[in-house]
Amino acid sequence: MQLYVNIDHVATLRNARGEGYPDPIQAARVCEEAGAHGIVFHLRGDRRHIQDPDVFRLKDVVTGVLDFEMAATDEMIRICREVDPHLVTFVPENRQELTTEGGLDMTRLEIIYSEKVLPAFEGTRTQVSLFLDPEPTHIDIAARLGVPVIELHTGRYANARGEARNVELQRLTEAAIQAHQLGITVNAGHGLNLQNLPEFLETVPHLNDISIGHALISDALFQGLSSTVKTYLNCMDDHTHQGESGPSTA
Ligand code: PXP
Repeated sequence: MQLYVNIDHVATLRNARGEGYPDPIQAARVCEEAGAHGIVFHLRGDRRHIQDPDVFRLKDVVTGVLDFEMAATDEMIRICREVDPHLVTFVPENRQELTTEGGLDMTRLEIIYSEKVLPAFEGTRTQVSLFLDPEPTHIDIAARLGVPVIELHTGRYANARGEARNVELQRLTEAAIQAHQLGITVNAGHGLNLQNLPEFLETVPHLNDISIGHALISDALFQGLSSTVKTYLNCMDDHTHQGESGPSTA
């Protein structure tokens, strides 16, 4: 099973100050050096985190799988074809949402995917993946469309507690089995973290890759904060002005 790291929120932090750092491309490099098998980014219509130049820099730097997450708009399809990533994951996008809120409603979207979206990637090296809730109808439609990959939306599992969590695990398990039997590669992601990942991985079969962003980038902050404070203190020790000191506080 493979880990794909979503680096969107490195860009969120960068954009908060409008400086060039932290650089999501540097983050992608670090993730790959640490063993991540793929890098995911979501270029949103409103460009709230990843921006167009990031996409082309990521294409140059990423050596593993590059997964371009996007809404199926004409603009995004044009950019994605230019970038030619290994994987494109289609997600629903809503301007007001804080993050992707659910899977694609394939009962409504089947025709547009069969007539417009999938033909746009025929003959390219880009594999198409659909982000789906663990619903049998959506998975059947993906199979009918000949889609090679789906990503199961784990957000409801991640947020559920008690019995509801077991229900979500069961739905994800059945969805993974269904997709696997239909010859579809099964990925999963959204809301996964070190607390909910173990049970998910131990229960759900046939998983190919797991996509994690927000929790992993957040954990990285605290796993690195202590040593970074020490680095700054060492810098201050090493570079304190050697001349006259200010008023004594003793
Ligand atoms: N997979 C998809 C399709 C997503 O939209 C997202 C969020 O961008 C993720 C995975 C990662 O979710 P999280 O940031 O909660 O780990």
